[in-house]
Amino acid sequence: MSRFYVTTPIYYVNDLPHIGHIYTTVVADTLARYRRLAGDDVFFLTGTDEHGQNIERAAARESVSPLQLADRVVARYHDHWRTFGVSHDDFVRTTEERHAAGVRELIRRLDEAGDLYTAKHEGWYCSPCELFYTEKELTADKKCPVHGIPAEWKSEENVFFRLSKYEQPLLRWIDENPAVIQPDSRRNEVRAFVAQGLRDLSVSRTTLSWGIPFPGRPGHTVYVWLDALTNYISALGFGGADPSRYERYWSGGDTRLHLVGKDILRFHAVYWPAFLMSAGLPLPTTVWAHGWWLRDQKKMSKSVGNVVRPDDLVARFGADPLRYFLLREMVFGQDASYSDEGFIDRYNGDLANDLGNTVSRVVTLSRGAFAGGTPPTPCDDNPLIAAAAQAVAEYRSAMSELAFHRALEALWRLLTEANQYLVAREPWKLVKTEGPGEKLSRILWNGLEACRIVASALLPFMPQAAEKVLRAIGVAENPRSLEALAWGGTPTGVPLAEPQPIFPRIDKQQYLASVAPAAAPAAPKEGRKLITIDQFFETELRVATVTTAERVPKSEKLIKLGVDLGSEQRTVVAGIGKAYEPEQLLGRQVIIVANLQPAKLMGVESQGMVLAASEEGKPVLLHPGSAVPNGTQVR
Ligand code: MSP
Repeated sequence: MSRFYVTTPIYYVNDLPHIGHIYTTVVADTLARYRRLAGDDVFFLTGTDEHGQNIERAAARESVSPLQLADRVVARYHDHWRTFGVSHDDFVRTTEERHAAGVRELIRRLDEAGDLYTAKHEGWYCSPCELFYTEKELTADKKCPVHGIPAEWKSEENVFFRLSKYEQPLLRWIDENPAVIQPDSRRNEVRAFVAQGLRDLSVSRTTLSWGIPFPGRPGHTVYVWLDALTNYISALGFGGADPSRYERYWSGGDTRLHLVGKDILRFHAVYWPAFLMSAGLPLPTTVWAHGWWLRDQKKMSKSVGNVVRPDDLVARFGADPLRYFLLREMVFGQDASYSDEGFIDRYNGDLANDLGNTVSRVVTLSRGAFAGGTPPTPCDDNPLIAAAAQAVAEYRSAMSELAFHRALEALWRLLTEANQYLVAREPWKLVKTEGPGEKLSRILWNGLEACRIVASALLPFMPQAAEKVLRAIGVAENPRSLEALAWGGTPTGVPLAEPQPIFPRIDKQQYLASVAPAAAPAAPKEGRKLITIDQFFETELRVATVTTAERVPKSEKLIKLGVDLGSEQRTVVAGIGKAYEPEQLLGRQVIIVANLQPAKLMGVESQGMVLAASEEGKPVLLHPGSAVPNGTQVR
């Protein structure tokens, strides 16, 4: 049994997770689940990185302590990982004592190796990177190459780590273990960085209070990256009273795999191995750097406001379709782009159609032909057996290379073959011409069996949905090993429930309209189009009172309101569900655009529009300063 240790980066707590963060965690989870099925002894770690100036500043902005901020954000991380079915074995926080103990022990070893010294440090500093840059590394106007913000000149007394001493050992490590940094293009990049010469690294700060005190150097705090990287062993008990997990998964483990985004590769493939070399500890066996998630081909950024958060997608589709999308779309080593259209196309095409329809089709046919159950006769001689064996072989080899998109492609090829097999044999005709005989039984059983193999192989990718598929085709328990991918496991003659759509099809146009960004802000003054007073009076604004309010199913934003306009009652759908609870709205007076053409929003007809001020996208409802009769005109 192989001991398999897999980690995600630990996430900063000055932000909530977006699809980039979720991607790494979902990759780790898929891999951990797959390796457990493969029979490995798996340990999967994730956590949060809670020290540093950025967190301190973010907390100060909100007038809370850094730990209060961290506690709040960590709770959200736990919620997210629960929603996404993430099966981590531990969650480490750098503010925990067990972590500080690990950091102290690592530093003791670096010191013992003679690799720490104190010296004056001056240079250009980027605070979001928490890193000093040389002038050459900055842009021409002295901005950080990563964040594009001006670097600050800093001068302070620091503890230094003799990184330069590890230049040759690192090169040897990279050359002797060609697979240790993945993909190859990234390994070459790291190698070139080391080969051009390494400067010693400053590993303490005197200007930062929110961090771990540097042992033996009063007034110094441990540099955040030395602090953060140590999580990978502190969480296992390194430096603590019980190092048994450390011995099992790090020093005695077979695979020590760090999954990281390309932006933090240097920390994991240069600094971290150098610290470990100095401390005399084993190095990671693989550092796997993935590409960047973009939105509509553009970098996601909070200031542009195009960051893709998972909340709406999950509320509408559940977590598994997003897991699937992320793993299917990103080709290892390259960047990938999220778009609403790309997402809905994958959902409708791959999930609702290819997977969902194939399953419900064979289930319906089997139920109809065989008294509401699976067919009585299995089959061990048909073309799908070879197709399945090939798909499973491709899937397994892709999984061992962490090529998730290829693993999924292989499974989808099997679904296509199963469909073609069914179309060629026309069981829907056969049931009428020959009745539910052995031939029909074998054909439908083969269809179910292909679905079973696909669903079993999908368990690591979409744990909840794959389980639903297995139940739908009569498999009572989830498989516990990859042996389930061999042909022959579908039970005969067991009852099948009436199929429920696992991935209900979504109307693409309606969906895209419902997620369309809010109208662009008003044009700047010079180019502004002025309207006449008559044009303004074409809009009929009236006061109304909310009499009923309920959420529109499957929408986080939309609330369906019944309003009393004095002379008539209307239904109006308002996109205010993120800012208001329906109960808060009852009895309120609001302003309605009363002569708007009706429009359907998620299947509900809206006969007007409620006016709200938009404060950074958050709606604030307008109402008359004091109560007036319903129907009163606003002008
Ligand atoms: N705290 C450090 C990691 C310390 S590990 C010892 C950190 N945190 S982070 O929250 O900023 O980022 C965590 C991970 O998310 C990184 O691997 C980063 O590459 C990844 N992503 C952040 N934005 C991303 C995308 N837009 N796309 C893909 N991944 C990206 O860095």
